[in-house]
Amino acid sequence: MNAPSAAVARTLANDRFLRALRRQPVDRTPVWMMRQAGRYLPEYRASRAKAGGFMELCRNAELCCEVTMQPIDRYGLDAAILFSDILTIPDAMGLGLSFGEGEGPRFAHPVRSAADVARIGVPDPEGELRYVMDAVRTIRGALGDRLPLIGFSGSPWTLATYMVEGSGSKEFAKIKAMAYGEPELLDRLLATLVESVSQYLLAQIAAGADAVMVFDTWGGVLPPAAYRRHSLDPMARIVARLKAQAPDTPVVLFTKNGGQHLAQMADTGCDALGVDWTTDLATARAAVGGRVALQGNLDPTVLFAAPERIRSAVAAVLESYGAGPGHVFNLGHGILQHTPPEHAGVMIEAVRELSPAYHR
Ligand code: CP3
Repeated sequence: MNAPSAAVARTLANDRFLRALRRQPVDRTPVWMMRQAGRYLPEYRASRAKAGGFMELCRNAELCCEVTMQPIDRYGLDAAILFSDILTIPDAMGLGLSFGEGEGPRFAHPVRSAADVARIGVPDPEGELRYVMDAVRTIRGALGDRLPLIGFSGSPWTLATYMVEGSGSKEFAKIKAMAYGEPELLDRLLATLVESVSQYLLAQIAAGADAVMVFDTWGGVLPPAAYRRHSLDPMARIVARLKAQAPDTPVVLFTKNGGQHLAQMADTGCDALGVDWTTDLATARAAVGGRVALQGNLDPTVLFAAPERIRSAVAAVLESYGAGPGHVFNLGHGILQHTPPEHAGVMIEAVRELSPAYHR
């Protein structure tokens, strides 16, 4: 496809998040939360009811913008993240996405055979996925030059797990059967996804995203060699493409349960790595040797504890990263649905209070 117009150089009133991703000095550690716009917020539940459903919400740029801004207005976070979902790409490929009440995502037409893989095309980001780009443009307009906006996609492997399984999974028997039994077939599916994700992220950057994050939620279920072939290598090809076409936009890779792969992930040339709570940030920092920034990693379940416990858990995460730039405070995975919203506020306030000591 044609190269989208280059990212717009923007001067932001609050650029702590982008500076931290570039490992530049900051006054305090920036903070945002994965899934910060979501069901734990009563104002989100009201907007979702107004839209009539989750995908209806994703397809309405004004309401996407409304819910993106809700956690910003409530907490004063250091970054906004596009409100959408990783499954927009397979939906645009014609797989028929639905979210059953309380049962998670489901595809009417899962990908199982060579003929299924051959049929899948690369969706046009300004065609079938225009609603996502419209949301990015609307959110950019509402943010103005106040705060950075994060765009995102699922990783090829993680998208493939949903496309082949047809829903969420515990054992990943169908996608693993393809990975071990027909790896060349899976390579072809992943190649289509590499192209789709690259175009999708470049279009989000052209529409106003200041940084992009790749969610590899399920890379951690693979043995190391299979992780490298089916999860890491496709992400590396995406990073190379983004660095060639949008060199100034920071790229964050996040493999859940990927602690043992951090050094190889840093080798992709990305700018930052998301780290879940099963890896200590000190260990992670030593593993990447200052080549990339780190984002994380408070266990989201800590937010069910009392405020004083939350504060000491935040202190421990800051201490574990230690002094100097290159840390973005976040949860180690998405905020949980039944989290008391005030407790998220306690965490954010603790980062504001305790982190300046690490940046003197
Ligand atoms: O971080 C943000 O605030 C941005 C929004 C965002 C959503 N999904 C909104 C959402 C992001 C970044 C995602 C990514 C996503 N979607 C992932 C990767 C996440 C990670 O942290 O590793 C995955 C695996 C999905 C697929 C998906 N979408 C699942 C498993 C679910 C939950 C289904 C359920 O009912 O529990 C969704 C739905 C979804 N995506 C919701 C939100 C706020 C809840 C939908 C609702 O309102 O009912």
